[in-house]
Amino acid sequence: MFTDKLRTAMNKQLNNEFYSAYLYLSMSSYAGSIGLKGAANWFYVQYQEEMVHCMKFFAFINSRGVNVELGQVAAPPSKFKSLLDMFQKTLKHEEGITASINDLTDLALSEKDHATHIFLQWFVTEQVEEEENDRDIIGKLKLIGDNGQGLLQLDTELAARVFVPPPANTAAA
Ligand code: FEO
Repeated sequence: MFTDKLRTAMNKQLNNEFYSAYLYLSMSSYAGSIGLKGAANWFYVQYQEEMVHCMKFFAFINSRGVNVELGQVAAPPSKFKSLLDMFQKTLKHEEGITASINDLTDLALSEKDHATHIFLQWFVTEQVEEEENDRDIIGKLKLIGDNGQGLLQLDTELAARVFVPPPANTAAA
């Protein structure tokens, strides 16, 4: 059974995913505004992935016969110190998301809601990949330091990231 406690927590996570999308859209804009078009692309793809996460929660909550309650989405920061600052903030944010997914997974188990527990497994795995990507890029940025050539080379790498849309009708998968 999809309890009220779980419904409220899942709705909150849907809102967290919207904030994630908003944050990365803001970072995409800022990166573009300082001439880092590759980083702008990377964050735009991240924004698109977060919207997929939102819609997975939306479809799953709806599939349980429950109305989704859309809450207010907070405004993200619009300025950043550097690309390193953006990726450090991204990692910190994703660590928070990982903690909230873990809490949700614990709650699904304690409420004996196995369908929700299975649904959340995809997110548990996704968070490992997201944090790993951020750590890799932070590592490269630390090595690059003040080297403009290195930064431009990394920006070219970030330009290669492509959004892969999920197959149709699998939003709740
Ligand atoms: Fe939806 Fe970046 O976690």
